[in-house]
Amino acid sequence: MSAVSVITIDGPTASGKGTVAQKVAAHLGWHVLDSGALYRLTALAAQQQAVDLNDAQAVAEIARNLDVRFDAQGTWLAGQEVEAQLRQEQVGLVASQVAAYPKVRDALLQRQRDFLQPPGLVADGRDMGTVVFPTATLKVFLVASVQERARRRHKQLIDKGVVVKMESVVEDLRARDHRDQNRAIAPLQPAPDAHVIDSSYLSIDETVAQVLACWSNIKT
Ligand code: CDP
Repeated sequence: MSAVSVITIDGPTASGKGTVAQKVAAHLGWHVLDSGALYRLTALAAQQQAVDLNDAQAVAEIARNLDVRFDAQGTWLAGQEVEAQLRQEQVGLVASQVAAYPKVRDALLQRQRDFLQPPGLVADGRDMGTVVFPTATLKVFLVASVQERARRRHKQLIDKGVVVKMESVVEDLRARDHRDQNRAIAPLQPAPDAHVIDSSYLSIDETVAQVLACWSNIKT
């Protein structure tokens, strides 16, 4: 691939990889790719256009033709700001359903690689180190216990004013984990050369520090 450095951060839902990726990228002054957002946008666009979610070909067409822009003001789908809608739990569940279609993954592959621009990229998702950027300079696989991830997700939702029971958050996490880990294509698993970081007992800043320490070790 190219000589521009990439740090990949993969891991299960609510492992904190999005926040960690943003902070690592900000520290290094690099670009960031939230690949999950592309799957969420595909899910949202498919729902908006009333496409049959069981029709992999039709959903892949939506993915291939996504009219999307990320900027400091938000995430724009066909000219409309959709960041809040994108983060809804229901959109995440549909995203994980359509992410299991090989044609959808294929349709989004080049779009993800296009984010690779100097001076560097921090990419977060499920298959950044295994499929999208297999030659990444540093690969991190971020894990945390189901209980801790559920606690974090529950707090996030409550902070957003969404009333939800802890049991249903745990159930949702388990369903998403199961689907992401067991799909035939690009299942959630660490690349053989990934550094596994367990953040169950680490704060976000401690986790960011560990990723940056791995990066310094590679660079020196
Ligand atoms: O916030 P959360 O980690 O739950 O989800 P996300 O990273 O926004 O991704 C939403 C869904 O897209 C996940 O449940 C995955 O099924 C899928 N996804 C994927 O298959 N591959 C990626 N590289 C990123 C996300």
